Amino acid sequence: MTDLAHQEWDPRQYADNARFVTELGAPVLALLAPQPGERILDLGCGDGPLAARLAAMGCEVVGVDASPRMVAAARVLGLDARVMDGEALAFEGEFDAVFSNAALHWMRDGAAVVAGVRRALRPGGRFVGEFGGAGNIRMIIGALNAGRARRGLPAVMPWFNPDPDEYAGMLEAQGFRIDAMELFPRPTLLPGSVRAWLATFAGAFAEGLPAADVGPFLDEATAALQAPLRGPGGGWVVDYVRLRFAARLP
Ligand code: BEZ
Repeated sequence: MTDLAHQEWDPRQYADNARFVTELGAPVLALLAPQPGERILDLGCGDGPLAARLAAMGCEVVGVDASPRMVAAARVLGLDARVMDGEALAFEGEFDAVFSNAALHWMRDGAAVVAGVRRALRPGGRFVGEFGGAGNIRMIIGALNAGRARRGLPAVMPWFNPDPDEYAGMLEAQGFRIDAMELFPRPTLLPGSVRAWLATFAGAFAEGLPAADVGPFLDEATAALQAPLRGPGGGWVVDYVRLRFAARLP
């Protein structure tokens, strides 16, 4: 992101502040259990590292992401990556599996996403993913919204963080059978300061602030997060909660 007031993805900034997200994707890739030759859609592929891993395993991969800059970076890896809104997937019965890591929380109309995934899959196809679930980054959201309240601005919640029952209900409403559904805390040590994390991801919270106040706003949130998020070694430990699931069509 280059301008906090207008959330845009900058592949280099993402790589500096969030590459750990790719490394943490290994267990959900294992849950997918991809087979060589399978046609797989990576939903919210970002700059493509996990799609590249699937391709290296012999899968035929298509990646989609809403960010043109991230899609451009994925194409540099030689991937078939396309700019597409995850809430309006434009595929019909062509994938053996849809995979998604750390992306579904950005797609706020979860029901529209699941309906698009169902349309994209072949009969028997599977939908396997992991994203922020209920309670995800509660401390961060609280600190940012406290700063907004001090400025007379309404609270915002830019992410979709369902609990397991709610998400299972959405999947079942589209005919999926649930194979796995787990909500678990995953406190995660950041590579740098939470200030850089906020500058990368918290654009929606800066809406309505004058540009000159964005820096002080982030500084205040960073100060408020010192006590809850500083780990014993002095690093910043973010309060991630993951919802990991596997579902399949009959
Ligand atoms: C997450 O991975 O949970 C996340 C990342 C960036 C912003 C919000 C949530």
